[in-house]
Amino acid sequence: MACFFRRKIAAKLGRTLQAPEDVFIPVLSAVPVFKKQKSADFRLSINTLRDKGILPSSGNVQLQTENLASQLKQDNVVDEISVERGMINFTIHRKLLVEKMLEPFEKQEDVKFGLNSELLNQLKKGTTLVEYSSPNIAKKFHAGHLRSTIIGNFISNLKQFLGNNVIRMNYLGDWGMQFGLLGAGFGQFGCQEKLKQNPLQHLFEVYVQVNKEVEHNEDMKQAARDFFRQLEQHESQALSLWQQFRDITVQEYQHIYKRLGIHFDVYSGESEHQGQALEVVQQLQSQSLLKTSEKGTGVVDLSSQGDMSSVCTLLRSDGTSLYITRDLAAAAARKQQYQFDEMIYVTDKSQANHFQQLFQILLAMGHSWAQSCQHVPFGLVQGMKTRTGEVVFLEDVLDEARARMLNNMSQTKTTKEMDDPEHTAEKVGISALIIQDFKGPLQSDYKFDWDRMLQAQGDTGVFLQYTHARLRSLIRMNCQIDAAPFDASLLPEQTSIVILQHLLRYDEVLYQSALDLQPKHLVNFLLKLCHLSAKAHRELPVKGSPHDVAQARLRLFGASCSVLASGMMILGITPVEKM
Ligand code: ARG
Repeated sequence: MACFFRRKIAAKLGRTLQAPEDVFIPVLSAVPVFKKQKSADFRLSINTLRDKGILPSSGNVQLQTENLASQLKQDNVVDEISVERGMINFTIHRKLLVEKMLEPFEKQEDVKFGLNSELLNQLKKGTTLVEYSSPNIAKKFHAGHLRSTIIGNFISNLKQFLGNNVIRMNYLGDWGMQFGLLGAGFGQFGCQEKLKQNPLQHLFEVYVQVNKEVEHNEDMKQAARDFFRQLEQHESQALSLWQQFRDITVQEYQHIYKRLGIHFDVYSGESEHQGQALEVVQQLQSQSLLKTSEKGTGVVDLSSQGDMSSVCTLLRSDGTSLYITRDLAAAAARKQQYQFDEMIYVTDKSQANHFQQLFQILLAMGHSWAQSCQHVPFGLVQGMKTRTGEVVFLEDVLDEARARMLNNMSQTKTTKEMDDPEHTAEKVGISALIIQDFKGPLQSDYKFDWDRMLQAQGDTGVFLQYTHARLRSLIRMNCQIDAAPFDASLLPEQTSIVILQHLLRYDEVLYQSALDLQPKHLVNFLLKLCHLSAKAHRELPVKGSPHDVAQARLRLFGASCSVLASGMMILGITPVEKM
């Protein structure tokens, strides 16, 4: 509802400065809420107006600020106008603020609060393809894959919430020499029985064993090469074993993704593009972009001088394709098939160079749409360990998070009354993992810390869930009170006003997140909302208050709870009802 006020203030500015009111919409920002001090609701920066050419950029800024402020008059929306170092502050009439902000929450269910926003309407809409998770079959699912999984899910949720058509894609590492090794090794170390019982573990074991074996066993090395060649030539026996490994792995992952509340629309993979990769090479050749190096490999010159000082290899000397060759083919195939307006790749920052080269080559080939492709890089996670040691399988991390959370929960008495404590512990444990990961800038490395992330107090996913559950329980306990009719003058306390002031910022927070794809804005917004709501919960009792006061307060708590839940869902967190 921030847009209602922004529009009113913009109209006022437009009249005064004889400029179209739309130009003021993006420069009016809601004032962040700080601890004790009372603040205005919106502010306008004079420097921004100067930058935009709305005010002359010569002259004293402070004089300009005071001059403009003196021309603006109070009205039935704006109650107070004040000036502060190059800024004009606007305070909305308190009763109107309460009324307008709580209007959308008359019915509890499915409030798309914040979406009806002129600011958000400025964002481009269309089809967004997000590629994330993308583990390698038979290899370790490392912390980087977990990060890619949850970050990609967040980006997809956000884009979808903002009205884009989103395609969620998993691009498996399902091709390459590792399948030669696996195929050859399976004959000696593999067991169909074990493969069915515990596929990921067994494939990984075989892979580790055969890697050891080839260190001293030439025959095995040859067998691996032979097997991979058979695969590349589509020989049916080799192919059917490969297919079995792939199917069984995807099935397992789907089960784990489900625990995380994550799904994919498409499971693609490198294998799909190995044929097309060679077509890409031919195309590069016909465009005279492919050179042959001294070693006999096929390379593209990426140097700005054209002197081969920086090249990218696309073809091995034996004529087989590489990781980047398959990515080139995959990108073009996706554009063809999905006609995306933008494509986002989520991997750790060590692949930044890879994606930069990928986009550069696509552009050189004439694919101007590569300009709308983007790599979202993230930093390393240090020390992700479980009780049994270093993590190999994602499932172990989820199990450990659940077990630790269950243990913490068993110390509180409410757990005993819970229908399904395991389920709650799972959801809360996953929230803890996500918030720990999303708190800082994605590019930063961070240290994995079970104790810190699972704290019930402090800025954790547990705290978010706890606050949400308490608000839900407050609403449940007072279900006999109908909060639909409410009197806006019954929420005069500063404790309620700051919550509404905070909610004014919601669309700006989503806007910022959509621009830089960083979850930290939303995380910090929600944590602050929790702190403010917890304070209100202590100070503004529902039970025992006169009926109309109880109604108004419930409406406020209902609003906090629903924005909290909706924000958590964008982050990829399932809010729990009780804990
Ligand atoms: N499978 C790769 C890895 O684990 C990540 C794939 C990233 N996506 C891509 N299109 N290259 O490192």
